[in-house]
Amino acid sequence: MRRVTAPAESIATIGAGTSTLISELLAAGYRSITAVDISQTALDRLGANLGDDSAHVQFIRSDARSVLFPTAIDVWHDRAAFHFLTDGADQAAYVRTAAAALRPEGHLVIATFAERGPEQCSGLPVARHSAGSLESVFGSGFDLIESFEREHLTPWGATQWFTHAVMRSHSRSEIE
Ligand SMILES: C[S@@+](CC[C@H](N)C(=O)[O-])C[C@H]1O[C@@H](n2cnc3c(N)ncnc32)[C@H](O)[C@@H]1O
Repeated sequence: MRRVTAPAESIATIGAGTSTLISELLAAGYRSITAVDISQTALDRLGANLGDDSAHVQFIRSDARSVLFPTAIDVWHDRAAFHFLTDGADQAAYVRTAAAALRPEGHLVIATFAERGPEQCSGLPVARHSAGSLESVFGSGFDLIESFEREHLTPWGATQWFTHAVMRSHSRSEIE
């Protein structure tokens, strides 16, 4: 995938969980990183895993559908949180919140279960997406730049098909 962000940019990972992404971003030189999760337990575990590195990370416990940031962010990243939103109104709220959080022409990088992916995640039902369905859900605020499907190998050895997409939020003139 083409590089859409650089270490100087601010990146928020939504539904951060305990993924190692933040450690990898810190190692790559990123210093403006926000972890958002609806679960305080997940954020506490993430902070514990990061140890001293957690000093470089902002933690926000919030629902992705209503999260607020103190300043506009450059990149909104989400792997495996959006797909928990199975209701159209909830998906629309998520899209509005992401568009409001990002600077104009910021990037949204998302991975959801693909149409051939699992029907549940952590025992909860999910909405499975193709690039086309993501484009139709996000189209009010974003342009699709790139998408692909890939099999993900879980820590417990299962494979899951994901749809990945990179989108750009509308420019200031498109918003006005
Ligand atoms: C399957 S885990 C994925 C964690 C991580 N992104 C990864 O790829 O390993 C989903 C995470 O999203 C969080 N989550 C689910 N719904 C959410 C919502 N509406 N707003 C914010 N976080 C949410 C869960 O608490 C959980 O930590």
